[in-house]
Amino acid sequence: MRAILMGPPGAGKGTQAELLTQHFTIPHISTGDMFRAAIKEQTPLGIKAKQYLDSGALVPDEVTIGIVAERLAQADCSNGFLLDGFPRTAAQADALAKILSDLNIGLDGVVNIELDDKNLLERLTGRRVCKQCTATYHMVFNPPLEPGKCDKCGGELYQRSDDTLETAKNRLRVYNEQTEPLIAYYNEQGLLRRIQGDQEIEKVFHDILDVLE
Ligand code: AP5
Ligand code: MG
Ligand code: ZN
Repeated sequence: MRAILMGPPGAGKGTQAELLTQHFTIPHISTGDMFRAAIKEQTPLGIKAKQYLDSGALVPDEVTIGIVAERLAQADCSNGFLLDGFPRTAAQADALAKILSDLNIGLDGVVNIELDDKNLLERLTGRRVCKQCTATYHMVFNPPLEPGKCDKCGGELYQRSDDTLETAKNRLRVYNEQTEPLIAYYNEQGLLRRIQGDQEIEKVFHDILDVLE
């Protein structure tokens, strides 16, 4: 399975990616997770990316495209992958098309999870993430069994610094300006699969399986 998960910030990409990558046994390629890991390790990439994530702006295309190209060339991607949060600009979509054609592979589908702004902001501001394994929770919609602690690995849960109301609103603006046009781009290629995000996590998962399989 070679697929892209698209959708606005908070739509549930990361949550669904966890389930889908387990189901298909494929790597989960989240540019957001890669940037956050680099920031935590204070690598040169992390130092470059931090200001963008903090403000909710996009990391420059040349940086982002470089890390994805490198990741897709790794051996574990040869049987499939799930991209989460990439591409997010027209330049990234063009670069991805070139990378895939150089590797002689195509996409099975582009899944777009749809949700309105009010729900998105509620999801973003109530989200908690595991420091160790990046598993995602929500204070109200998907709480951990023990407050502050990851069900899967026991790691400590934290709130992402870009999940404040102000930065979340900015991320939605950036999404509408730069990423939303990709829906039409993939629709024209016949790859777009639209999913209603305002449903239980399990229901969204089964809807995605239905359109991909
Ligand atoms: P990134 O980490 O990709 O963030 P995002 O796109 O803003 O999306 P989120 O991770 O916030 O939301 P999600 O859709 O994964 O939702 P989740 O499953 O967590 O990017 C962060 C930053 O990195 C960007 O702002 C940018 O700076 C940079 N970046 C990343 N990629 C880039 C690129 N390609 N180019 C340039 N810069 C890039 O769910 C959200 C919440 O809702 C959770 O609490 C969850 O428990 C809950 N939830 C999920 N599903 C449901 C459901 N069905 N019902 C109820 N609650 C649910
Ligand atoms: Mg995510
Ligand atoms: Zn964990």
